[in-house]
Amino acid sequence: MRRILPLLILAALTLVAAQALAQESITKLAPEAFGKFQRPPALFAHDKHNEKAKLDECVVCHHGGADGKQDKSASTEGTPCADCHKVKPAGKATGLQRAYHKQCIDCHRAKGKGPLACGQCHKR
Ligand code: HEC
Ligand code: HEC
Ligand code: HEC
Ligand code: HEC
Repeated sequence: MRRILPLLILAALTLVAAQALAQESITKLAPEAFGKFQRPPALFAHDKHNEKAKLDECVVCHHGGADGKQDKSASTEGTPCADCHKVKPAGKATGLQRAYHKQCIDCHRAKGKGPLACGQCHKR
């Protein structure tokens, strides 16, 4: 155990570092789930955006939930929206395009800051 512990700690730290890098490197969103895109990928420089917008809490965007019920207290950073929001949702569930649009645009509207027009996010 005494030999394995440092390795486990190293593995955990590497994982955290890799995740931080993964989000730092995001500049646009183009989830594969859509397959074909009608619009250019939406601009979203993950870390810069969240710094400028002063969003310290990950769960503001990375919520949890299951079986049609959202859980606004469970943080799910690292889980793609598409894992829970299908492109063609069943019943009243929020589809993937609507999930992004509602989350992004509702906040921009509420704060009176951030783009609202199609071409400001889907920039060529
Ligand atoms: C303004 C909304 C928002 C906030 C706040 C936010 N994120 Fe994200 N994050 C996103 C979106 C959107 C994606 C892309 C998700 C997808 O691919 O479906 C993402 C992706 C990620 C990924 C996956 C990276 C990859 O390449 O797979 C990680 C990890 C992540 N975020 C971590 C965090 C952490 C940690 C925080 C808090 C410090 C945070 N996020 C805050 C919106 C946000
Ligand atoms: C672990 C599963 C899960 C993940 C990951 C997830 N959601 Fe959700 N989300 C839900 C559930 C469950 C609901 C409630 C049922 C519904 O509306 O489909 C919901 C509801 C929503 C709603 C409608 C309610 C509201 O807040 O206005 C939006 C918008 C939304 N999600 C956006 C997103 C975005 C954007 C992402 C990725 C950054 C994301 N979700 C990631 C499970 C998830
Ligand atoms: C909880 C609030 C919130 C959410 C959710 C949010 N934004 Fe923003 N966004 C802001 C604010 C506030 C600004 C203005 C920041 C400033 O310049 O002061 C902004 C600015 C922007 C800008 C302008 C350039 C920049 O990076 O500052 C873009 C592009 C943008 N948002 C895209 C998105 C996208 C795409 C999503 C959804 C994945 C999203 N935003 C979700 C609050 C939010
Ligand atoms: C605040 C930023 C924002 C605004 C404003 C916005 N979108 Fe989006 N949109 C997104 C994000 C994020 C996605 C999911 C990732 C992607 O496709 O780039 C998306 C996805 C889409 C998709 C599905 C993917 C594709 O390209 O086929 C379509 C279609 C779309 N948006 C059309 C529009 C139209 C039309 C408008 C104006 C009425 C608009 N969007 C306004 C952020 C935005």
